[in-house]
Amino acid sequence: MSRYKVKKVCCIGAGYVGGPTMIVFANKCPDIQFKVVDLNLSRINAWNNKDLTKLPIYEPGLENLLKKCRDKNLFFLTDIKSSIAEADMIFISVNTPTKKKGIGAGKASDLKWIEASARQIAEYSTGHTIIVEKSTLPVRTAETIKKILESSYKQLSKDKSSKTFSVLSNPEFLSEGNAINDLENPDRVLIGGESQNAIDSLENLYVNWIKKEKIIRTNLWSSELSKLAANAFLAQRISSINSITAICEETGADIKQVSLAIGSDTRIGDKFLNPSPGFGGSCFQKDILNLIYLCEFYNLKEVANYWQSVLNINNWQKFRISKLVLDKLFGNISEKKISILGFAFKANTNDTRNSPSIDICKELLEEGANLSIYDPKVSSEQINLDLNSSSKSEDKGSWEFCNSIEESVINSHAILILTEWDEFQKINWLKLSKIMQKPYWIFDTRFCANRKDALDAGFNYWSLGSQ
Ligand code: NAD
Ligand code: UGA
Repeated sequence: MSRYKVKKVCCIGAGYVGGPTMIVFANKCPDIQFKVVDLNLSRINAWNNKDLTKLPIYEPGLENLLKKCRDKNLFFLTDIKSSIAEADMIFISVNTPTKKKGIGAGKASDLKWIEASARQIAEYSTGHTIIVEKSTLPVRTAETIKKILESSYKQLSKDKSSKTFSVLSNPEFLSEGNAINDLENPDRVLIGGESQNAIDSLENLYVNWIKKEKIIRTNLWSSELSKLAANAFLAQRISSINSITAICEETGADIKQVSLAIGSDTRIGDKFLNPSPGFGGSCFQKDILNLIYLCEFYNLKEVANYWQSVLNINNWQKFRISKLVLDKLFGNISEKKISILGFAFKANTNDTRNSPSIDICKELLEEGANLSIYDPKVSSEQINLDLNSSSKSEDKGSWEFCNSIEESVINSHAILILTEWDEFQKINWLKLSKIMQKPYWIFDTRFCANRKDALDAGFNYWSLGSQ
């Protein structure tokens, strides 16, 4: 039995991790109160919106679960102070992006939001508090958090005996678009820490729905490193299969067949062998860069180079696709309309962070193309933020936001599929071919179009990893 019975939980950060994670916790632990706090008022308002289609993130299954617990044992609010003060356990789920300036810029994680959270906890917490790192962090960050808690606490509190802390690492392995399933049925839960009592307390929450055998207990540093390494391994598989797509296109081998053949070896396994225009998302690149920074810090140059090569292939894959579109369209796409189907970094999410679509679209815009972009879940405002930050050259192309596939495709010379949304797999190619400019092309980077249907409809057809 654990010494600390957790009754009130606070989660700092109401983003893609904090929101869904606490929604699942609140459903599985109805006797515990969960408060999710964020500095961002509009995000909190969106989580509290009565209209469930206006939640800040799109995630299948999220609305139904939210309905069951919101304003019962789950609350979204900006009142950070009192939520921290009453909590027995605090999850830190804030963003940890790559540093943009200063030492380690472009590689190290920017820990300013982590530090701010630690300082808030130091200031407002009362009694004993278990701090849980949910964010993905460089190895040994828990030490920094502990130091901040101790030193800030010395400055801020006169009654030292009334505040104590235990720090745990409990990285999150959910993937966007499948978050609810990943949270409800995780392959494993990882808890790293020094205090067995604190680990027991967190484990007591998880055992409400997860078998104890799935809970891995480690020291703090193994837990922090395992998260970075797991993401690096996943990304490495994608770069590996993407590197093979290029060989397939040269040789006549077919990547789908090769992927099946490789993945049928149970030692390799069939997951994460889908070729793509490159991996995107907020984490793979950031976490590999973080790993590289760590290797360089410890003078492990060869290891750093190894992981850098995973990123190099990813960047090369994106560039190679935009170049291929240009080459196939007679080396000139200036003022040609190209329909972009899919802008999110993967299907079933509205998230565009590091989406391969961004880099590919920017390259096409540099060549003067006019892009008509359709994505079922990404807003025009988001695309504007993602594309307009690029440097402007004089004869750059333009882009427009479209509300349907047809609106995007009408009068275009080519269709470039970049996200594997279900609706792209149901397209009637014959119907679309009639509203396009001849000769019309499909460039399919996600295996959405059926080759035979596309050819029967008169398209020139290119699909990743085949001739
Ligand atoms: P996010 O940007 O969607 O959300 C982070 C939130 O924290 C923001 O809303 C921000 O306003 C808030 N915040 C920052 N500082 C704060 C403070 N001091 N007080 C209150 N709120 C504060 O980020 P995310 O995608 O949820 O990722 C969070 C962490 O989880 C990152 O470390 C990431 O690497 C990790 N992670 C993300 C995923 C994923 O699928 N997105 C999966 C596993 C792990
Ligand atoms: C990934 C990991 O899968 C999660 O375990 C981890 O918790 C998370 O990162 C994180 O730390 O943020 P996520 O980025 O949400 O999750 O989505 P993935 O399904 O991993 O896809 C990432 C990118 O890889 C996408 O662009 C996707 O299209 C691409 N991908 C994925 C492929 O190109 N091929 C595949 O076979 C799988």
